[in-house]
Order: sequence, then structure tokens, then C-alpha cells
Amino acid sequence: MKLKTILVALAATACFTSAFAQSPIVIKFSHVVATDTPKGQAAARFKQLAERATNGRVKVEVYPNSQLYKDKEELEALQLGAVQMLAPSLAKFGPLGVKEFELFDLPYAFPTKQALYNVTEGPIGKSLLKKLESKGITGLAYWDNGFKIMSANKPLALPSDFRGLKLRIQSSKVLDAQMRALGANPQVLAFSEVYQALQTGVVDGTENPPSNMYTQKMHEVQKYATLSNHGYLGYAVIVNKKFWDGLPADIRTALEGAMREATTYEKAIAQRDNDMALDAMKKSGRTQFITLNQQQQEAWKKALLPVHKQMEGRIGADLVNAIAKEGAK
Ligand code: LMR
Repeated sequence: MKLKTILVALAATACFTSAFAQSPIVIKFSHVVATDTPKGQAAARFKQLAERATNGRVKVEVYPNSQLYKDKEELEALQLGAVQMLAPSLAKFGPLGVKEFELFDLPYAFPTKQALYNVTEGPIGKSLLKKLESKGITGLAYWDNGFKIMSANKPLALPSDFRGLKLRIQSSKVLDAQMRALGANPQVLAFSEVYQALQTGVVDGTENPPSNMYTQKMHEVQKYATLSNHGYLGYAVIVNKKFWDGLPADIRTALEGAMREATTYEKAIAQRDNDMALDAMKKSGRTQFITLNQQQQEAWKKALLPVHKQMEGRIGADLVNAIAKEGAK
């Protein structure tokens, strides 16, 4: 009788174990942008590649548009394990205590995408991702968006045009210094709140790559935008370290492969998506786009380049100098 009970219990355990083994590992991937942005499309591509590469043993659930969490909350949710994967902008790691990522916000730091890739794909990029580990986070890849344009309800051609304007920024202190260098008042707001803040006049303007401006319909509430390309916006794809380290090795290898492929895809579409978004906004006629002449560009640079020196204390002089060297190559 006793033996029978044990056998029944063992059989039940075996059933439970096999059911458990068969239920997929779920990766909740939360992000704040629209599905038709470079990040949104790459997240969808990663889902497809990851599920295929693991024969369905992994299920990726993508939650776009701040559906689950806003900027700051999503990082906390990742650390707590409520979601497993994110791709926050590089301007959003300061509040986490890894302020070196703000080097990507330095104005005019990257004259070309290649100069940027030399940083993200070289030793600097790798060492930055390593810094996340002490926060319980593993960095998997850098994703690209593009160079930013500046928008408002008045034309912004010279630094003096910024005086007194309230401009929305991400949580980076470098972006705060950038806006102050132009004479504006920076205001940190979550991405999901920007459209309404612009519409109601809580802020006067903002900066973003065209793909974000268009997919959030900001062009409907901004009369002017300057094609300044004064700064860069990119992402780090990150996972909860405990979750990642706890995955079976073959699954982790398959997911790394899927991430590599999704990253190649993301980089290939980022520029095209931004060009298309800019075209669509131009066609809509809601926003007037301003191109800076040589003299105006020089005035912007004169106002903004001192931010590099000013931010050495925050980012580290070594890193700021290393970026300058990469940019000059
Ligand atoms: C922003 O907050 O402006 C961007 O970081 C949003 C994003 O993720 O592209």
C-alpha cells in the first residue's frame, strides 16, 4: 500500500515535471515606442527569430508603446524580474547609476554612423555593457535609431531662438546641459507623456529622431523642426541577469544568435525608417522643416561643444577624450 502511494506520487511528479518542461520560457520584452519604429520592428523580428531558433521553447511577448511600463518604471521592472528584456535609450541609464552611457548624448560627438559603431562595437561599448552587471542586468546589443532634430512652435535657427523655451528631454544630465547651453529650460518627461505635453503647452518643444517624432504624431503639434542632427539616439538591449544566467545553455546560445540577427536587421532599417518618417512629415505639411546654413551650424556648435568639457566630471575625462578621438578618425 505504501509502495503504491509512493509510485502514484512519483508518477504525478513525473507528469508535472514533463508538463513544466514543455511549457515555454516566457520573455516579456517591454518598450516605449510604436511598433513601426526601428526598435519596434526589431523587437518583433527578435520574437520571430527567437521562437524559431528555440523550436518554440521560448515565447517572446512584446509590449510596445509603454503599454506595461513608462521609462523609469520599466528599468525597475526589469531589475525586479517583472519583465525580462528591454531596449531603453542610452540616455536613460543615469537614474540606474550608470551615468557613463550619457556620453552618447554629447552634442556632435559622432560625425557619422561609422564613428558611432566604432564606439558601440569596440572596447568602449563592451565595457559600458559590463558596468550593468552590478545592477543585475546583462547587456546584449546596441540598437540604432538616428540623429535628432529639434522641434518647437517657433523656428529654431540660432541658439538665441531657444531662450526661455521649455524643452522636453530624457533623463540624461548631458541633455540637461545641452538644453541649458542653448538657453532653454529642460524638463524631464517620460516618452509616453510627450505628445500631450506638447499639445497642451506644458513644454514648447523637444528633440527626437524623425521616426519617433512621426510615429508619436508630434508633427501635428509642432509647427517647426530644425534638421540639426546635433545629437544621437540609440539603445542598449538588456536582460535581467539572473534570468539570463539561469537559462539552459543551448537556449541562451540560440537566443544570442537570434539577437545578433535582429541587431543586423535593426541597423539596416534604422536610417531608412527615419528617412521615410521625415518624408511623410514633410508631405503632411503640418511641420515646416528648417535646414541650417553654414553660419547657423557654426553658431550651434559654438554653443554646444563646451558641454563636452563641462560633462567630464560626470562621464569621466578619459571617456570623453576617447570619444573625441573616435570622432576625429
Ligand atoms: C525618448 O524618450 O525620447 C526616446 O528614448 C524614446 C525611445 O525609446 O526611442
